Amino acid sequence: MRKKIAAGNWKMHLSLTEAQKLVSEIVNMYQDEYRGKAEVIFGVPFPYLHPIHHLIKDKNNIHLSAQNMHQATSGAYTGETSAPMLLDTGASHVILGHSERRQYFGEDEALLAAKTDQALAHELTVIFCIGESLEERESGHMLAVVKKQLSGGCFHLSAENFSKLIIAYEPVWAIGTGKTASPAQAQEVHAYIRQLIAERYDAQIAAGCSILYGGSVKPENAQELFSQKDIDGGLVGGASLKSRDFVDIIKAL
Ligand code: 13P
Repeated sequence: MRKKIAAGNWKMHLSLTEAQKLVSEIVNMYQDEYRGKAEVIFGVPFPYLHPIHHLIKDKNNIHLSAQNMHQATSGAYTGETSAPMLLDTGASHVILGHSERRQYFGEDEALLAAKTDQALAHELTVIFCIGESLEERESGHMLAVVKKQLSGGCFHLSAENFSKLIIAYEPVWAIGTGKTASPAQAQEVHAYIRQLIAERYDAQIAAGCSILYGGSVKPENAQELFSQKDIDGGLVGGASLKSRDFVDIIKAL
């Protein structure tokens, strides 16, 4: 079902004490200041999943996400974390395919398709990230890249399973650079993603899919981005580490 969503991706930041303070502040402000129905998701490092779950477990519309996951259920994979382990911490979501995982850890479409299958088999909601680099945009390959990532990672799914995904469009050149895609640039790609989903599945599934924008989302630009027809919310890095900024982004929904 299509929803308004503000998801934070903390990446590899914060101490546990800082993380707990941040979440407590956000939850308090959210409850005091926000009357809407948007979902909030905290994408936190593995060691913080369980302690952060403790702070949000009885809160409506607030969820916990991991930032990665292994594709096997268990096994001799030193240092890895499985879907059942994520569920045990209280996580309900997992971010897959982030450009930092693709770029620094060599995650490709086949691996991401396997991870997506595994997450869905364990009833984790996947936030599946796609997006082009600056070079790909400037050379005119932007839409082809997005299509390849989406079809390679997700279009093998049944319609029922695809409907459980959240898609995040994050142009790599806008991540952590302060350079946000303009609302029109973001809307163009979001509309294209929705069109691809309609072609692969049907118009109803496309209309029901939540597609988030990520890349230097801030309180100053959130409202204009979120007012675009095909943008259903944000996947927020830097600004999700500041309680005031993240709550203002939630309120922009
Ligand atoms: P920034 O909001 O810091 O640009 O990060 C975006 C991102 O990568 C979220 O996953």
